[in-house]
Amino acid sequence: MSRSAPPRSIRLRRSVLSVPAINRRALGKIASLDCDAVIFDLEDSVAPEKKAEARENLRIFFTDPPPADKEEAGKERIIRINSLSSGFGADDLELVLALEPDAVLLPKIDEPQDVTVVSDRLAEADAPESLRIWAMIETPRGILNAAAIAEAGRTPGSRLDCFVVGLNDLRKETGVLPQPGRAYLVPWLMQVVLAVSAYGLDAIDSVLNDFKDMQALDAECAEGRAMGFAGKMLIHPNQIDTANRHFGPDEAALAEAQAIIAAFADPAAAGLNVVNFGGRMVERLHLVQAERLVHKARLISERPLRLPAAAPQDEG
Ligand code: COA
Ligand code: MG
Repeated sequence: MSRSAPPRSIRLRRSVLSVPAINRRALGKIASLDCDAVIFDLEDSVAPEKKAEARENLRIFFTDPPPADKEEAGKERIIRINSLSSGFGADDLELVLALEPDAVLLPKIDEPQDVTVVSDRLAEADAPESLRIWAMIETPRGILNAAAIAEAGRTPGSRLDCFVVGLNDLRKETGVLPQPGRAYLVPWLMQVVLAVSAYGLDAIDSVLNDFKDMQALDAECAEGRAMGFAGKMLIHPNQIDTANRHFGPDEAALAEAQAIIAAFADPAAAGLNVVNFGGRMVERLHLVQAERLVHKARLISERPLRLPAAAPQDEG
């Protein structure tokens, strides 16, 4: 008997903006931005001698003023830490335990044990269940082991929730050149999407470095959406609207989903697994897809309006 993947989370993760934790000015902008999730980066965007200052920035950001920011707009908050072998990771993880973001993002995950060592540590520290683990898949071994890593997410207490593909590191390790269309990378990207689909996780597509090239972003978001990614990791506020547009349901898709739901709700469809939908076969599996899409659209429409930009803090 075949077992299907567990239901995937229906959190909005269309636009996942990375903000260097060292940049206080950028941190001060977050409340006014319309992204679904924020990655507070302590890893590669922060110089080694600035790691402590970056942690302090996050401590202040998360605790002062707590109520306004916590409610600030329902954005998912993720802290990307340095690897535990780097000499910075242990302090980063202590900060995560103190601040209790929605998730901790682990860089350069090669194998399942890289995740379990952190989930064990979180359990040991009695971290709330709501504190999830995200994994950067950005090394050749991470791609090769993507399925095993995702499968480890099924172990009780694993907390694994989402993969983020990191093509900058992967290109560096493999020598694949940055090219429009990402032809040589597509097999690896699809391997990641397949792995998360098998085990009920989300996958977020990699960043586009050329943050002024809106045409390239448009093409890459369309490509990522067509591949099955839930959203895109971003590096600049200018990229948010495009990602939200591509990874959110458009009006035509929403109207069709509502029509499919209505078609199955019709008493004439009672007991039917397939219906004739204007000359096209539609099955109950399409109904499940349609319901997910309508749910997503509802989450988008229910999101609070963004606050006006906060006055910038000191230059970071
Ligand atoms: N999050 C929030 N705000 C950001 C931002 C980000 N990721 N990137 C830029 N901004 C803000 C800037 O602070 C600036 O604000 P200001 O007008 O009040 O000064 C505004 O957006 C315009 O920025 P711009 O001048 O176009 O770019 P920049 O030179 O300040 O920054 C980068 C360019 C690439 C250095 C910056 O976008 C960045 O650090 N991005 C994230 C990098 C990262 O996280 N890397 C690791 C993951 S791959
Ligand atoms: Mg990386």
